[in-house]
Amino acid sequence: MIIIINGPNLNLLGRREPGIYGTTSFEEYLPGLRTMCRNLGPCDILYLQSNSEGEIIDAIQRYGFEQTTAGIIINPGAYAHYSIAIADAVSAVPAPVVEVHISNVFAREEFRHKSVVAPRCVGSLCGFGLEGYAMAARFLIERLKSNA
Ligand code: DQA
Repeated sequence: MIIIINGPNLNLLGRREPGIYGTTSFEEYLPGLRTMCRNLGPCDILYLQSNSEGEIIDAIQRYGFEQTTAGIIINPGAYAHYSIAIADAVSAVPAPVVEVHISNVFAREEFRHKSVVAPRCVGSLCGFGLEGYAMAARFLIERLKSNA
């Protein structure tokens, strides 16, 4: 199982600043991603979104120790830039965690250039739009297969 955790304001994808984040909601994007993962794995996706730091940490703790977790894909939203608590949760769990940002954070305001979460992850992707989630999922599935 791949766990996708989207952080604050990502429930507004498709409606939120479409020039930056596009016009597709995550609910619209998810079925195609699920199909890709079933065909590649087979691997299922559990999708969670929360605007609360504590709920994101609870989810990392809950799924990050599960044997059935192939990996966690997290878009921490703005928390990426300052949540040491989310970064520490990522460090605490054995599951591989990949950070995804839809926009190219390095081409935006300077405060977005730093992620405190990224150094705790196996890798980080940004600027590929929603395709970044598929890239991360492909990586986790390949990793699972090569460790099997
Ligand atoms: C984001 C980038 C963050 O800087 C921003 O606060 C978000 C979305 C992205 O996916 O590009 O909420 O994580």
